[in-house]
Amino acid sequence: MPRMNATAPIAAPSILSADFSRLAEELAIADPELDWVHCDVMDNHFVPNLTFGPILIAATRKLTRAFVDVHLMMERPWAMVEEFRRAGADQITVHLEACAETREVLRQIRETGAKAGLALKPATPFGAVAPYLPDLDTLLVMTVEPGFGGQSFMPGMLDKVRAAHAERAKKNLAFRIEVDGGIHPETARLARAAGADVFVAGNSVFHASDSRAALASLREAIGT
Ligand code: DX5
Ligand code: ZN
Repeated sequence: MPRMNATAPIAAPSILSADFSRLAEELAIADPELDWVHCDVMDNHFVPNLTFGPILIAATRKLTRAFVDVHLMMERPWAMVEEFRRAGADQITVHLEACAETREVLRQIRETGAKAGLALKPATPFGAVAPYLPDLDTLLVMTVEPGFGGQSFMPGMLDKVRAAHAERAKKNLAFRIEVDGGIHPETARLARAAGADVFVAGNSVFHASDSRAALASLREAIGT
């Protein structure tokens, strides 16, 4: 499982924007040594959209050797942590806004052997996640309102990335800072300059005429 503990920036193509009728080909663009594959689980409660569950994570797991990064946009995420891990998730990210006992859910994720991520919506301030940073492998800063691909990057979220980056240095922590929503080479450069090191990209990769080339441009923009 390369790239979790390394410090190089990571591109994470998001299969939300992929053509599921050709999932194997779409996933083949991810380089297991360089990239993560980002999987957006949505439940039509926490967010208005509905996507997929553990069955698709299991299929993804069979189709790629890359690190499988599962972003749970669902209520009661703790009820399905074990199932997502069994399906092959390398990292499970839950939303702060969906957790009552956040520390407990993060511990539960780590007990399965998966890495633990915590996400925050645009309206949630950085201060709300700050107490959990020592318990995290990844902090996911949403740079759009979660729910749909293809939205515009919210530049105001870069302040949270800067705050996370400063806090990580100050406390000598090792969590990764991931940005998700509206990422393309230009916004990725801004987020990189603010201190992000994982860059989720759906539309800009899978809706490009050449998705392999688009992913290569993203890698180049972030310097990986
Ligand atoms: C949005 C999801 C994202 C989505 C990003 O709620 O969390 O991961 O795939 O899509 P783009 O890159 O198209 O904004
Ligand atoms: Zn996501």
